[in-house]
Amino acid sequence: MKIELKNVSHTYDVEVLHQLNLVLEKYNAVALLGVSGSGKSTLIRLMAGLEKPTSGEIFVNDYDVIHDEDYKKHVGFVFQSHNLFPHLTLKRNISLILEKTRGFSLEQANQIAEDNLKLLKLDDQMDKIPKNVSGGQAQRASIARALSLNPDIIFLDEPTASLDPILTDEVLKAIEELRELGKDFVLVTHVISFVKDFANYVVFMENGHIIEQGTPKILDAPKTNELKAFMKKVR
Ligand SMILES: Nc1ncnc2c1ncn2[C@@H]1O[C@H](COP(=O)(O)OP(=O)(O)O)[C@@H](O)[C@H]1O
Ligand SMILES: [Mg+2]
Repeated sequence: MKIELKNVSHTYDVEVLHQLNLVLEKYNAVALLGVSGSGKSTLIRLMAGLEKPTSGEIFVNDYDVIHDEDYKKHVGFVFQSHNLFPHLTLKRNISLILEKTRGFSLEQANQIAEDNLKLLKLDDQMDKIPKNVSGGQAQRASIARALSLNPDIIFLDEPTASLDPILTDEVLKAIEELRELGKDFVLVTHVISFVKDFANYVVFMENGHIIEQGTPKILDAPKTNELKAFMKKVR
């Protein structure tokens, strides 16, 4: 995938991203790292087109993310917690969106939902509502939902943040298996072992700046004091 940030800044009540510049090509799994509050969620939301930056330009796979409304149809987003509709089955959570936003018939929508839930190994859970499945299963269902829209890129913002270590492992394994689908991934996670296995590029942020970037090898030999300190904290 191609990602280009040109002087991207973002302000809520104060500026939280400061003139970010980044040019990435040829990587298909990019991890954003940094302590809480460093701006990862803001940046991944901007990259996915969920919000517009206060200033600057963003290009992803040659889409002008800020101005091209078509871009959103090509991306999937997985949030920290699953945000499935509580009163709908896992399958209906997916098929409803396919019917409403992509114009599929109920039959087609159900088929796509089933296929993607099976891909995430939820064959026997698809007719349950979210509160009757585990947190890991619900999060896998939200990954299936993102995939059902057939995105080119999947953005995941700490997809295991709300899970215990065992469920975290289960969800990360499922993500690892999605590699075969040939999609591009941008994710935020604190699980360093997963970043080393899965990502082929790492962007480390602090206080709204990109401090260090490179292949996951930079995690074993950090150059900056900031990344050195971060690696001590996450170990
Ligand atoms: N909706 C918001 N309104 C105001 N400030 C926000 C909002 N979202 C994030 N922030 C602030 O922006 C900064 C970066 O937050 P965030 O992007 O969530 O970082 P991270 O994901 O790395 O924890 C933090 O100081 C946070 O308090
Ligand atoms: Mg965050």
